[in-house]
Amino acid sequence: MTDLPKNTGAHTSAKLWGGRFAGGVEAALHQFQASLPFDARMWREDITASIAHARMLGATGIITAEDADGLIAGLQALLAAWEPDGPEIDAQEDIHSKVEAALRAALGPLAGKLHTARSRNDQVATDFRLYLRNGCDQLDAALQEAQRALLACAETHLDVVMPGFTHLQHAQPVLAAHHLLAYVWMLARDRERVADARRRINRLPLGAAALAGTQFPIDRAMVARELGFAGVLENSLDAVADRDFAVEFLAACSLTMVHLSRLCEEIILWASQEFAWIELPEGYCTGSSIMPQKKNPDGAELIRGKSGRVFGDLLGLLTALKGLPLAYNKDLQEDKEAAFDALDTTLACLRITAGMLRGITFRRDRTLAALAGEMSAATEIADYLAAKGLPFRDAHHLSGEIVRYAESRGKGLADLSPAELRRFSPLIGDDLPLRLTPQAVVAAKTSHGGTAPERVREQLARARAEVG
Ligand code: ARG
Repeated sequence: MTDLPKNTGAHTSAKLWGGRFAGGVEAALHQFQASLPFDARMWREDITASIAHARMLGATGIITAEDADGLIAGLQALLAAWEPDGPEIDAQEDIHSKVEAALRAALGPLAGKLHTARSRNDQVATDFRLYLRNGCDQLDAALQEAQRALLACAETHLDVVMPGFTHLQHAQPVLAAHHLLAYVWMLARDRERVADARRRINRLPLGAAALAGTQFPIDRAMVARELGFAGVLENSLDAVADRDFAVEFLAACSLTMVHLSRLCEEIILWASQEFAWIELPEGYCTGSSIMPQKKNPDGAELIRGKSGRVFGDLLGLLTALKGLPLAYNKDLQEDKEAAFDALDTTLACLRITAGMLRGITFRRDRTLAALAGEMSAATEIADYLAAKGLPFRDAHHLSGEIVRYAESRGKGLADLSPAELRRFSPLIGDDLPLRLTPQAVVAAKTSHGGTAPERVREQLARARAEVG
């Protein structure tokens, strides 16, 4: 056993830092600064990290093997006793003091040896990283679940053709499956971002102590291995001062929420009477207390709304960090509520999205009706003429004239006869009208990533393989 600092006797104060203070803290301030009500959820992480720390203290001889075993046994007993709901929320300051107080109640003065060569500053950074690492894994699973629901919905509706939009104006017809697959790839990139954030989360701060490191001969690599971290943070100040990893986590959540919000906006539009392209599952809608006919898409609306609070979490943390001198400042305690709220919100939104998607049916009659008598084959006419040698600009102009003509007759482009079309150009053959039906227009888009049915089937297969 190497030298222990003097004055390692049992705590005389209930506070971890009571020695320096003659009087107590104002009740109002105590309540104001206490984080136990929201950081108690890191209880498993706190105990697990403490077990690794105690094992290292024993292995390096900083405390005796016997003391280390005693601490580890006490911590393990605590872990078991608090399963599954965690500790009771009392007047303790935070989860770190809560664990230590419980350990002291069980082990007596020995519990005081646990905090050797450690500070709450590197302890909280470690707990938080462990918690968010697990959060990344939960997010990945929930993102995958939402992707699978999108894939299933795309597969059941492979034959549904609907208008595609730009500027929320009919642009060109697309397969509904193609549209849904667009979101599968967005969520695939969200998963990459989460995995990327996880890589940088997965570095050990413990051993930085308060800010400068410690004179004890600690073995940080051993603790990193025990806790499954990929390595240690190289600079003790950086280890306790920065929360960039939490910002990255929040940014990944925020982009996921952007994607969910856009999808939900479309679901809300499609479920409206004006579109009526989809039927929403009843279980994901609510009624009105006054209007008996109502079936409101509350789930989708709420997801769209909740995106705002996740962006707020991100902005809140960025702002909290921007003016902080190194190293630890209590402002950093604000990191947790932001990240926990974003995690809980994003997970809930992903799960609700997946459930809702599983119950959505497209109304083929309505999507076809939306395509009847319409002009979205205009590009097709321009492409047809361009393929016959007319410069695309001229072809575009001519096609525009045909649209104007059809409009004046109250017809859709696909309703024009070959004779009517030929009046605009001798290049137009009898085959053109057949190419102007929504199905034909869709089938023609055979480029890689295009909406032709065979391309979409290939895309589905690739997405299935990637989603897992
Ligand atoms: N509850 C604190 C937090 O979340 C723990 C670290 C306290 N450290 C300190 N020096 N007061 O940041």
